[in-house]
Amino acid sequence: MNVVITGANRGVGLGLLRHYLAAGHQAWACVRSDSKELARLKSDSLHLVRWDVREAAPSGGAPLPERVDLLINNAGIWSADGGETAQGLEDVTDRTMQEVFDVDCIGPLRVVQHLLPALLKARGVIVNVSSQMGSSADNTSGGSYAYRAAKAALVITTKSMAIDLAPRGVRAIAVHPGWVRTDMGGPDARIDVDTSVAGLVKVFEAVSSYPLGAFVAYDGTQIPF
Ligand SMILES: NC(=O)c1ccc[n+]([C@@H]2O[C@H](COP(=O)([O-])OP(=O)(O)OC[C@H]3O[C@@H](n4cnc5c(N)ncnc54)[C@H](OP(=O)(O)O)[C@@H]3O)[C@@H](O)[C@H]2O)c1
Repeated sequence: MNVVITGANRGVGLGLLRHYLAAGHQAWACVRSDSKELARLKSDSLHLVRWDVREAAPSGGAPLPERVDLLINNAGIWSADGGETAQGLEDVTDRTMQEVFDVDCIGPLRVVQHLLPALLKARGVIVNVSSQMGSSADNTSGGSYAYRAAKAALVITTKSMAIDLAPRGVRAIAVHPGWVRTDMGGPDARIDVDTSVAGLVKVFEAVSSYPLGAFVAYDGTQIPF
């Protein structure tokens, strides 16, 4: 299987990359920066692509495959400065709203647009990594304007992709990886990367058992949105 993963240099993306390489698949790791962990991965099946998802296409690295069986749009940010930016009603800025939307919602759309011929050729699967924080039904604490809005927009974008592409043989699903101990999730998060990845992989394999454009957590439960 040809698997393309964005944001594959750390966190959940790196965990997914490790999983698919260990399982014997060809993996395209799309990254905007390097990491020691990524540099340590030695495999003939690993193809490194330089891609900041704020751009419509990669800027270098290995060529992307002609057939994509699984695209995982994992790259995401809480904020452009990595977490310090306030996102409350009175202090969130236009700029923060736009920066987060650019990466977390338009980023996956750009990647899908660029890879569409390869996805169609393989009748592949698109996974967009959203967050439970993008569920309106689940929003009981307010705040987090930029992140919630961008991740909610990604869920509805995924639904349109699912509807548009189902007749052409491509499935699309939005997922929530859980609250994961990564740079974004922080040290107090509930689960580790391996637990998230093990659950996510099962969800991807069962994609056709979910309604079109469903929003599914790493433990297989559907999230109302
Ligand atoms: N961790 C959680 O608890 C949690 C919960 C719900 C949803 N999520 C979602 O799960 C996904 C992975 O999260 P994580 O916890 O692994 O986050 P993370 O540790 O902060 O890693 C984020 C990844 O996204 C990449 N990235 C950010 N902006 C990018 C851009 N413009 N172009 C390309 N890559 C970019 C980062 O690359 P750099 O190293 O270059 O910055 C990094 O590889 C995200 O979409 C996140 O929103 C996470």
